[in-house]
Amino acid sequence: MSEFSDRIEKVSISGIREVFEAAGEDAINLGIGQPDFAAPEHARRAAIEAIKDGRADAYTENKGIRSLREAIAAKHERDQGIERHPDDIIATAGGSEALHIAMEAHVGSGDEVIIPDPGFVSYDALTKLADGTPVPVPLRDDLTLDPAAVEEAITDDTAAFIVNSPGNPTGAVSPPEDIREFARIADEHDVLCISDEVYEYTVFDGEFRSPAEFAETDNVVVVNSASKLYSMTGWRLGWVHGSSRRIERMVRAHQYVQACASAPAQFAAEAALTGPQGIVDEMTDSFQRRRDIVVDGLEDIGLTVPTPKGAFYAMPEVPDGFVDECLERGVIVVPGEAFGANGDGYARLSYATDEASLHEALDIMAEAYDAVV
Ligand SMILES: Cc1ncc(COP(=O)(O)O)c(C=O)c1O
Repeated sequence: MSEFSDRIEKVSISGIREVFEAAGEDAINLGIGQPDFAAPEHARRAAIEAIKDGRADAYTENKGIRSLREAIAAKHERDQGIERHPDDIIATAGGSEALHIAMEAHVGSGDEVIIPDPGFVSYDALTKLADGTPVPVPLRDDLTLDPAAVEEAITDDTAAFIVNSPGNPTGAVSPPEDIREFARIADEHDVLCISDEVYEYTVFDGEFRSPAEFAETDNVVVVNSASKLYSMTGWRLGWVHGSSRRIERMVRAHQYVQACASAPAQFAAEAALTGPQGIVDEMTDSFQRRRDIVVDGLEDIGLTVPTPKGAFYAMPEVPDGFVDECLERGVIVVPGEAFGANGDGYARLSYATDEASLHEALDIMAEAYDAVV
């Protein structure tokens, strides 16, 4: 018997961390995937009041406080016209835990999970931790996930496929016809679609749609989170919604790994969802301005970059040695292969940083580019 599980030996610390550790202290960090805004004041206040009143001291229901789940249900009805009973929602420790329990509930030993490549680092790792096998699917040239490629990758062993639009690390937004296709594929092949919608509110071009709007079966579960919707990454509050039978399976994992999401964070997220929504437009407008700065700057350097339509990432094709040159000159960008083998030859830039730093970083990237071509 070996000391550590085969599962844990199959995953390693994310390549993103390694890049941070290699960078100097005053480097401009275009590596971090989190909004650079303050959380809404009313969300902070709600948590403080709940703490002061003693409402946040005890475990909550496993699925989360009822009023938060009602707020989440109301959000999805308002935004997507999806009617979800509050009992069919679990508040989780971020979208991360929501993805984890979705995998635990649906992926068995040897099952395959189709994931976008390049894609968010957790998809590969969480599949392996569930004892499944990741099946990476390359993206189209515009970095969207091709429904035909997903359909082709389905085998008798496929437990699930993951859709992430707007996407990390790409910033790509799938068009509504593709989202509709993902729902059809989930229905027709009787395979689960895990739709990771954590960047739902950050769309500049095109529109956000959810496969859950179109599916005729219950083969879609949706992961979302206050992290990117409301700039609340540190609060660790996300959720998953799906049919009763799927939620009932997911809560079995949730109750043992988490018991319940942090109570103060639940009160804060409820206030974020039900209070003034000004932060959403403010962040989107600001990210769009920064997207334009970054795309124009990268094109001026001579790099090819599909214009990101959402989230706050750009993924240019970069020459060999570019990422290291940037690091050496004090700009952190993440090598594309940290997000999957097909990310090789790309770099991910997060533009969730101030405009002055972005301009400075672009000047340095131009020097890095000249040094390697
Ligand atoms: C695509 C995607 N899904 C899920 C998450 C998890 O976010 P959190 O656990 O903070 O909600 C992230 C975080 O970067 C992400 O980029």
